[in-house]
Parts: sequence; structure tokens; C-alpha cells
Amino acid sequence: MRLPVIIFSFMLSATLIACGNGNGNGNGGDASSRSASSGAAQEAGLSDFELEHGIGPITSPMTMGDFDIEMAARGQDIFESKCAACHQMENRLVGPPIEGLTERRSPEFLMNMILNPNDMARKHPEGQKMMQEYMMVMPFQNVSENEAREIVEYFRQIDKGL
Ligand code: HEC
Repeated sequence: MRLPVIIFSFMLSATLIACGNGNGNGNGGDASSRSASSGAAQEAGLSDFELEHGIGPITSPMTMGDFDIEMAARGQDIFESKCAACHQMENRLVGPPIEGLTERRSPEFLMNMILNPNDMARKHPEGQKMMQEYMMVMPFQNVSENEAREIVEYFRQIDKGL
């Protein structure tokens, strides 16, 4: 099979982006050798759900229900002990500001970002963008799915101004 130069250079740049954090495993390019015309998401092998809601343990839509103040209070405690060193409400710190997150991202996306930051930074287009902007990969904070849900409830509280 002969690939036109143009496709080859596209694959090369995709490989460079995929390895942008310096510890890519260098085997980029194989996934895109079949179809050069599909979009970046298909190139990366992401489903529509993953593209919108992130890569990780959350693989189907969540039901959020009414705001739960006790759940949010537990989320706040966890946030303060495990996240506040890098995240402020209004301003960029080591990581992005928290305020407005629930308006910009789906709850499933936030959960996947909290639970699977490594794959998000390496394999998801939004995660890759953030990694380039913040120059690091957020370290997993050893939170359970339940704790991540409590943190998201706290984020909801912030954005509702409650
Ligand atoms: C050591 C610093 C650090 C800690 C601790 C940390 N984060 Fe992050 N976080 C980051 C960085 C940096 C990013 C940007 C994404 C990237 O580069 O990996 C980020 C991104 C995020 C995002 C995605 C924001 C967006 O715009 O989509 C969420 C959500 C998030 N962090 C939540 C948390 C939560 C919740 C905790 C605690 C359980 C936490 N982070 C702990 C550094 C940190």
C-alpha cells in the first residue's frame, strides 16, 4: 500500500501531538492508516460518547437528580483536602479554575476527568488541549467513583451560587 505524502505528513503530526507530553509510547500512526478522511476523534478511536463525555469508568449517561446539599458538603471536604492545592474557584492555579465547570462540561466528563486524568490527557482531544495549556498531567488523586460524584455535586453547588 502506498500512502500519498500528504496523508503521511498528517499521520506524522498526529503522532507528534499524541507524544506531546514526552512519554508517549511512540506507536502512533497505526490507528490512522486505514482511513485518512475521518475526523480527529475517529483517528483517536473515540466513540461519540467518549468525545463528548470523556474516557474513563463513566460510559453511559448519568442521572443527576435534585441538588443534594449533604453530598455537596462531603464533596467540598474531599476537594479541600485533595484538590485545592492545584485548583482555585475563580483563577487558574496549577490547574484550571473550578467556577463554571458544570456549565462547560457534562457531569460524565467531569467524573472521567477526575477518575482517569491520565488517559484523558493522552487520548482525549480536550484533555490534550489542557495538558498543553497547563504543561502537566493532573495526577489521579485516588478518589472513588462515589467520591468523584460528591465532588461534582460540590461543583454544582458552586455554579448554582448556593
Ligand atoms: C497536582 C495538581 C492537581 C491536583 C492535586 C488536582 N488537579 Fe485537577 N487538574 C490539574 C491540571 C494541571 C489540570 C489540567 C488537565 C491536565 O493538564 O491534565 C486539571 C484538570 C482538572 C479538571 C478538568 C477541568 C476542565 O476544564 O475540564 C477537573 C474537573 C479537575 N482537574 C478536578 C480535580 C479534582 C476534583 C481534584 C481532586 C480530587 C483535582 N483536580 C486535583 C491539576 C491538579
